[in-house]
Amino acid sequence: MSEVIKLEIHSQIALITLNRPSAMNAINHEMRKALPEALLAAQANPAVRVIVLCGAGDRAFSAGADIKEFAPVESQAAYRQARLENNWIGAFDRITKPIIAAIHGYCLGGGLEMALACDIRVAQKGAVFGFPETGNGIIPGAGGTQRIARMIGLGRALDMVLTGDRVTAERAYEIGLVSRLADVGSLMETALQVAERIGSHPETAIKFAKEAVLASASSPLAAGLLKEIDLLSLLMNSNERLGIAIDFKEKSKK
Ligand code: HXC
Repeated sequence: MSEVIKLEIHSQIALITLNRPSAMNAINHEMRKALPEALLAAQANPAVRVIVLCGAGDRAFSAGADIKEFAPVESQAAYRQARLENNWIGAFDRITKPIIAAIHGYCLGGGLEMALACDIRVAQKGAVFGFPETGNGIIPGAGGTQRIARMIGLGRALDMVLTGDRVTAERAYEIGLVSRLADVGSLMETALQVAERIGSHPETAIKFAKEAVLASASSPLAAGLLKEIDLLSLLMNSNERLGIAIDFKEKSKK
């Protein structure tokens, strides 16, 4: 695969590691190519039920785009076209399996945008979140402006994006930017427990549950409700559902 992205399969969990610890796992060209490949490999592997994304080293999940690669672009139009054609962050949207971000240390800029593209965020106490982009003369450009507003509301999103102020793990938990907090030293254990819990449920139910909940971010309520009924209907005669009902009735008789 690549030095900067590690993909390991541990039974039903794919662990993807951003692996440039000496550069705080900053996102360079190579990572932008290798990360979508790893995500798609995990998606294609039938043994994998859940994906966990984490950062190597003890200082950062990721400190964002690699500033050492910042350079002038040929033209605004060429840049726009290249971004549309090479939409590396869009790979997250093609993954139907749940993706959990296990976040420690700095989670800044593009690092935060990757975390936001995951389905569940677990943060270790001491983690620091922020969008330094405006201070660097740009705006979050890997989905950040859109996803952060959906995640924490317009007011808080504008505050984070316009000021660039950092947010602690505790505050991130309070405002719903992350859904679980882990003590120092127990991040991976917590993230893997969440992954195992999800992996213990029937696969198609998890796939449809993710699809239905994500639809709420992009559809009017009526369309979302229709999707929910469509997906639920497909599950009504599943072996898992019927088996659970039979077991439950058997147990109640005793
Ligand atoms: C390249 C980076 C980096 C980055 C850190 N490093 N962040 N290299 N790009 N974004 C490298 C440093 O150069 C240094 O390497 C090593 O990591 C340790 O960093 P230090 O700065 O020495 O550590 P510290 O003083 O503790 O400060 C940590 C930090 C700071 C607060 C995270 O490094 C920082 O502010 N980094 C930049 C954050 C940022 O602006 N990110 C980009 C946002 S824009 P050497 O070799 O010198 O020891 C963005 C756009 C997204 O992300 C667009 C889509 C991808």
